[in-house]
Amino acid sequence: MKISVKTGEMGAVSADLLAIPVFRPAPKPGGKASKENPRLPTEAAQFDRTLGGIIQRALATGDFRGRPEERLLLYAPGASAKSAGVRVLLVGVGAPGELGLEGVRRLAGGAASEARERKLGRLTILAPRARGLRAEDCAAALAEGAVLGAYRYDRFKSNSRRRAPKPKAPATTLLFRSAEGLPGLRRRAKEAVWGAESQNLARDLSNAPGNELPPAGLSREARRVARETGLTCRIIRGAELERGGFSALRAVGSGSANPPQLIVLEHRGGPAKRKGAPLCLVGKGITFDSGGISLKPSGGMEEMKHDMSGAAAVIGALRTAALLKIPAHVVGIIAAAENMPSGTAYRPGDVIQSRAGKTIEVTNTDAEGRVVLADALDYAVKQFSPEAMIDLATLTGAAMIAFGPWATAAMGNDDKLVEEIRRAGEAVSERMCPMPLLPEHRREMRSTIADLKNSGGREGGVSTAGAFLQAFVGDTPWAHLDIAGTGWTNRRTPYHRHGATGVGVRMLVAWMQARVQQNA
Ligand code: BES
Ligand code: MN
Ligand code: ZN
Repeated sequence: MKISVKTGEMGAVSADLLAIPVFRPAPKPGGKASKENPRLPTEAAQFDRTLGGIIQRALATGDFRGRPEERLLLYAPGASAKSAGVRVLLVGVGAPGELGLEGVRRLAGGAASEARERKLGRLTILAPRARGLRAEDCAAALAEGAVLGAYRYDRFKSNSRRRAPKPKAPATTLLFRSAEGLPGLRRRAKEAVWGAESQNLARDLSNAPGNELPPAGLSREARRVARETGLTCRIIRGAELERGGFSALRAVGSGSANPPQLIVLEHRGGPAKRKGAPLCLVGKGITFDSGGISLKPSGGMEEMKHDMSGAAAVIGALRTAALLKIPAHVVGIIAAAENMPSGTAYRPGDVIQSRAGKTIEVTNTDAEGRVVLADALDYAVKQFSPEAMIDLATLTGAAMIAFGPWATAAMGNDDKLVEEIRRAGEAVSERMCPMPLLPEHRREMRSTIADLKNSGGREGGVSTAGAFLQAFVGDTPWAHLDIAGTGWTNRRTPYHRHGATGVGVRMLVAWMQARVQQNA
């Protein structure tokens, strides 16, 4: 998506839609809401005079309060009956002290979404000004919001009726007041576009139907991303998986005609190019989860096409790391398989030997994510001796019940690492909530006939799943993120709509950058 940063007068821009942030008047002392109408930013007020004061008159009605996410579309008449008018979109951003970077992201997201909905090709967003809001951060958040807000998953919509081309994301201009620091604003906007487009790529992968994106399809996409951005990519499959001892991954994939694959993406940036323990990002890549022989109920099963959202986040994060040339060594490892019931499927009661050597009694074939991750985590630890390792997985319905789409469950064997991740998430408005991993959770996963069983009871489902994974990471500093609730949404927000969210990409990028800073 094309995003440019400009400075200058509002009257000088030619756009199909001009979005103006409008603050709600500060509340009265004592906290009561002000009865005053919202005021326009000075430059917008000047511009409004050239439009004949339509914005001020609309505000004078008192209908528009400037509340966060409130939107009002106005039309200023053109100079003559034949010349088209100007579309002005007022976007509420709350009281001046209320506006943070997430508000800025939402402002741009709402504007870009509105432009796309109305098939408008050129959007200009006036950058908001508020105390404590740095212009460069604002440019990044605006760019991010616009790219995410314009996202649609319309690959399978045929628009045969009028053969009109499908609407595209609007070319967007971010309009700043002063030319001060323009190169910095442009650089930050460009970097933010890379990150947000990587998040949209993760959404595309998760939204893709199971028949379109089986494990081999996920490999193909990873290879394509690697080729385009300079990552290295290695795919392990077939006999090589067998020789490598990936029996757990192979067991889960055995019910499907689409064989499992292990995808390894690698980024080497900066001075870490030569040596150094990497950061490992491990993703659950179940391209469709039917539950296997422990078949899921049919209602809502179609959503299980996004059971590779952890993998999608890993691909998005590595893509961004490559584009930003983050000076670190980062390895992405994806365990890709399809969980299907069939005559060749693994069964409840089976005992499988994991790559790590530990035996797993399968008590429920629907607890397949942890089984494939067992081999992927073991491979990461033994092959790369990582400095730190994070896995992302749509692992349990329990995480969705616990936090809904509002927070990711975070746990691990290293409180400092979990805290780092929580902070990185907070900085980019991806919420992570710490969950415990207790000795009792580990005990719950013991089997009577094997080393572990793959499914505990319903109690403490988020943590027992995490405790299972812990058995495969040894002493490596490790954190597990259960994105079962956050990877998918049915709620619309200014920059999310029904479907995959691409959660994890922004946090991982922020985390890698923080790590680099820390080591510098
Ligand atoms: N992929 C599911 C978890 C899931 C549920 C993700 C809803 C996103 C939305 C996972 O493989 C699964 O089926 N987990 C089981 C585990 C149980 C059998 C121990 C679950 O949570 O029910
Ligand atoms: Mn499952
Ligand atoms: Zn699953």
